[in-house]
Amino acid sequence: MDKRFYITTAIDYVNGAPHLGHAYEKVVADVIARARRSLGQSVFFLTGLDEHGQKVQQAAHDLGQSPQAYCDDLAVQWSSFVQSLGLSHDDFVRTTDARHQHIVVALLNRLHATGHFYKSAYRGFYSVKEETFLTEKDRNPDGSWDPQWGVVQELVEENWYFKLGEHQSWLVEYLEKNPEFVQPTNRRNEVLGFLRSQKLEDLCISRPSSRLSWGIPLPFDPGYVTYVWFDALVNYFSIPAALGDPAALAPLGSPAPAGSSLSVWPADIHLIGKDILKFHAVYWPIMLHALGAPLPKTILVHGWWQKDGAKLSKSTGNVVDPLAIIGEWGLDAFRYYVVRELGIGPDGNWTDDGFRVRYNSELANGLGNLLNRAVNMLNKYRAGVVPSPSRTLAAEATAVVEKTRACYLANDPQGALIAAWELVNRANLFVEETKPFHLAKDPAQSELLDSVLYNLVESCRILAVLVQPVMPATADKIFAQLKVCGEASDWKQSAWGGLAQGHQVGAPIPLFPRKDLAPK
Ligand code: ME8
Ligand code: MG
Repeated sequence: MDKRFYITTAIDYVNGAPHLGHAYEKVVADVIARARRSLGQSVFFLTGLDEHGQKVQQAAHDLGQSPQAYCDDLAVQWSSFVQSLGLSHDDFVRTTDARHQHIVVALLNRLHATGHFYKSAYRGFYSVKEETFLTEKDRNPDGSWDPQWGVVQELVEENWYFKLGEHQSWLVEYLEKNPEFVQPTNRRNEVLGFLRSQKLEDLCISRPSSRLSWGIPLPFDPGYVTYVWFDALVNYFSIPAALGDPAALAPLGSPAPAGSSLSVWPADIHLIGKDILKFHAVYWPIMLHALGAPLPKTILVHGWWQKDGAKLSKSTGNVVDPLAIIGEWGLDAFRYYVVRELGIGPDGNWTDDGFRVRYNSELANGLGNLLNRAVNMLNKYRAGVVPSPSRTLAAEATAVVEKTRACYLANDPQGALIAAWELVNRANLFVEETKPFHLAKDPAQSELLDSVLYNLVESCRILAVLVQPVMPATADKIFAQLKVCGEASDWKQSAWGGLAQGHQVGAPIPLFPRKDLAPK
């Protein structure tokens, strides 16, 4: 059994409302997953929800609901959000799933049995609001606590600790030897800088059930539940294990079920936002290393979206509602914009004008107009029948196909779109250069017109394959208008010459209706 290409997103806090940042991360992961499938790989794409912890317990309590009922309600909203984004995920994990909790318990037992945990008393200050212990460094110069921490309590508490610190030099060496482990490079340098300049403290992995009951009980000490991050990170591993993947079961000391045919672990890509880098690039690899499990290949870190240059925030109303945008402009336009606008790495800035400009110039006047002109002219001048193959644009198209493919494989979907638009622009320019509307008036130019028309419709057919990972519905519409058999989701269809002489195309239907450019 071949190992599947395994890509994950962060699992979202169930109590937060789905927003542009969540949508972006999921769409980018989906594009990478679809591109790999198109290129012939078998893929496993996982996304889901993070449901335990203090904030959920508190929010449910405030509504007079049980935490489980509260999560179940919100999970409905989140799965419909995921549906609206057109994701091609293979599974959806909730950390309250029994299948996930069983594996977390097995992992805790294993790490406990192999001496990676210890219990110790701690006296300190605790912020309930932020669910974190504070140190003297967190105090204001005058000794007070900043209001951001809410009520700060002094606690003396026994807890369980994971021996994180003893793996520090191993991790530094691992990062140095594996430059692809954290990408892009500036994020890798950030982790290395942190690890080289600070001593890694052991990690508190428990909370007394008296203070927090909404979590996975520690199997070896029932007075405690598991710290939410120690539970959440395991989702990437628990689902393959629960589905019977031997590579995830072996480190837990569990045999794979007979006849198990799933091979997913280790992950190829954990796609995350920059704020949760330390959890993924420090805690998670050390947890896996302690367990003796293979490490994920790449932690791929994206930046954060703002709107109009300011932080997204529900309280100030500075939000972008992905569902409203999708309702007004269509799903593929939304997916196109977020992928084209923001590459994986820097921060991005949403502006409604920027969206409209890309929609009109790149989708409506770019790809949409190209297809419309090509199909229209073929219908008008040749009754929709494809003339004999011509190769005028073949070399340029083939170079674009190769460039686009390389970008997808390098986890650069923005680069893939930039490359594909070289062909959109080239083909549109080709119409201006060859002026088929003039050629059509001169019977002596009939062969040249045949050749121009062939190059235009064939370029459109190939473009459908190139944009398919980002805009699957648009790709299908292009194939449907051209009435070609085969799937736009199969990269092999991008070879020049797929349209045969005598093939009948359909009628032109606009892909992206033009919208008024005037600001609202
Ligand atoms: O952190 N722009 O969940 P979360 C881009 N449950 N991405 C953004 C963003 C923005 N403005 N805001 C948030 C959690 N994100 C944990 C993860 S994983 C084992 C547990 C991204 O709902 C954020 O960086 O706060 C993260 O990758 C994802 O959305 C979920 O954030
Ligand atoms: Mg967050």
